[in-house]
Amino acid sequence: MSLLTLYQLEREDIKNIINDALYFKKNRKKNKYNNLLENKNIALIFESPSTRTRVSFDIAINELGGHSLMLNTGETHLGKKESIKDTANVMSKYVDCIVARVKNHSTLEELVKYGSVPVINALSDLSHPCQILADLLTIYQYKNKFKGLKLSYLGDGNNVCNSLIIGGALLGMDIYVATPKGYEPNELFINKGLEIINKYGEGTLILTNDPLEAAEDADILYTDVWVSMSDKDKNIDEINKVFPPYQINKKLLEYAKDDVIVMHCLPANRGMEITDEVIDGDHSVVYEEAENRLHAQKALFKYIFYE
Ligand code: CP
Ligand code: NVA
Repeated sequence: MSLLTLYQLEREDIKNIINDALYFKKNRKKNKYNNLLENKNIALIFESPSTRTRVSFDIAINELGGHSLMLNTGETHLGKKESIKDTANVMSKYVDCIVARVKNHSTLEELVKYGSVPVINALSDLSHPCQILADLLTIYQYKNKFKGLKLSYLGDGNNVCNSLIIGGALLGMDIYVATPKGYEPNELFINKGLEIINKYGEGTLILTNDPLEAAEDADILYTDVWVSMSDKDKNIDEINKVFPPYQINKKLLEYAKDDVIVMHCLPANRGMEITDEVIDGDHSVVYEEAENRLHAQKALFKYIFYE
């Protein structure tokens, strides 16, 4: 199977992935899955820059006994000199899995449609499921539960926010998303989130324009950049005008619970969506969160190939 968005998963699936990720984290070098990807060749295609995703996938594959091929924009014909259809067909003859970071989510859908190997979304303009798997692992590590936690995202309703809604909903969390007007998350993801909450009868999803409503008594404060890689036409003057109230700073932190954890997928635009003081402060778990990409992606490979 492929993983393009988290709403493909059931609650049990995501819980299993998190449990496996915990195992991989506890047993980093020597574990019963050292040969999980033996004889598997996995292509890593990056249309946009990446530090965490490319390095953590590369290392995860190597530590599980597989072979990775790093393909950056300009190194393949994908979407330029050759159709995505032909690329998908040809790549499927060589590799066992494609991990792809793409500008347009539809590229991933085409890779799935025309290829015959699993495709993993390593970030698109619409979603970032691998990031959120690592985030859920991080939340579990610090809070030891999901249900009953207030998970608050402040800032731009972007790809990370879309996926966070689904991840939080799958685990029955109380999700608050505070964005300026006009920067709300994608409607499909809002609806899918509400569907999941309805299905399991647990959790809530509140969308607001009030940053303090989200910050109040939050167990988790999460933010991401105000301008994403895929944002070509955002008006920077308007961003600078409407986003500052959503910044995670010391003052906003005072509204949250005393043991709040502060998360950011990174890279951060320090001084914009989050201050140095907070990202470097006691509540911040951002580096642990980044480390967890490695463990969560190992667990994801186990799920993709063997479950
Ligand atoms: N969080 C994340 O995906 O980081 P990179 O862009 O560095 O991969
Ligand atoms: N929303 C950000 C996430 C980076 C990991 C972007 O798409 O640029």
